[in-house]
Amino acid sequence: MTANAAELQRFAEDLSRRAGAYLMEHLGKLNVHQISEKQRNDFVTHVDRGSEALIVEEIRRSYPEHSILAEEGATHQNSGSLTWIVDPLDGTLNYIKEIPFFGVSIAVEDEKGLLVGVVYNPALDELFSARRGGGATLNRRSLQVSAQTDLRRAFLATGFPHHSKYHLPDYLHAFSEIFIQAAGVRRLGSAALDLCYTASGCFEAYWELGLQSWDIAAGSLIVREAGGAVSDFRGGDTHLQSGRIAAGNKEIHSQIINILAHYFKEPDHV
Ligand code: 2AM
Ligand code: CA
Repeated sequence: MTANAAELQRFAEDLSRRAGAYLMEHLGKLNVHQISEKQRNDFVTHVDRGSEALIVEEIRRSYPEHSILAEEGATHQNSGSLTWIVDPLDGTLNYIKEIPFFGVSIAVEDEKGLLVGVVYNPALDELFSARRGGGATLNRRSLQVSAQTDLRRAFLATGFPHHSKYHLPDYLHAFSEIFIQAAGVRRLGSAALDLCYTASGCFEAYWELGLQSWDIAAGSLIVREAGGAVSDFRGGDTHLQSGRIAAGNKEIHSQIINILAHYFKEPDHV
């Protein structure tokens, strides 16, 4: 079956709502034996796996020729040119703690880059969606990044490098410099949603390192389609591979990467 981008976007939106409903059904019902650590400080539950199984089954049924890259390992390599990049539950720790800031992230990539990105926060019923060249929306209303260009008035989001503690000193130096200059910094715990709130203008910019492509693929397209800039810490295009991402309106993004590039001098490894 061949599909155009608008069809893929609608399919991803429906699927993220279904997976979101599954997350809400199971919210608050986990016991400690159902939570395991993939590696130190990286938690997974049967709900992450159940949500992934639901999503992957539907993609395989409708688009058997497409490839799939999914966080919990349900990966399929096919010869077709389209790849689905899936995080079935972004913000697992928030989910475990019942903090309503988690979501489903689904992206589609083709040979030219990201084609579709959808992020759904089921606790707040927020559906963020974008298609390359088609703009970005929140619950069907058009999204625009913030017009605030003064870093002193900027409200920012970040994430701590929980898996790359080796980079903690550089991160903290950059954090201090940004924190001193900005109006405020939040750390909410879901990279996908941090990007969406940057796209909607709540945050002027967002930065984090040590991420995986499924955390940021959909959100990156949503920021770009809302008129923002997305890059690695040196202004390059390696963010999906390196897991180092800076996103924001164009002016604040550029001011943030000037600071990040100063502290992260070595190339963003890919
Ligand atoms: P995940 O819930 O899908 O793993 C926020 O810093 C990002 O890092 C989230 O997108 C989250 O995605 C990921 N992450 C992994 N382990 C984490 C941890 N111990 N604390 C916070 N975020 C974590
Ligand atoms: Ca996840």
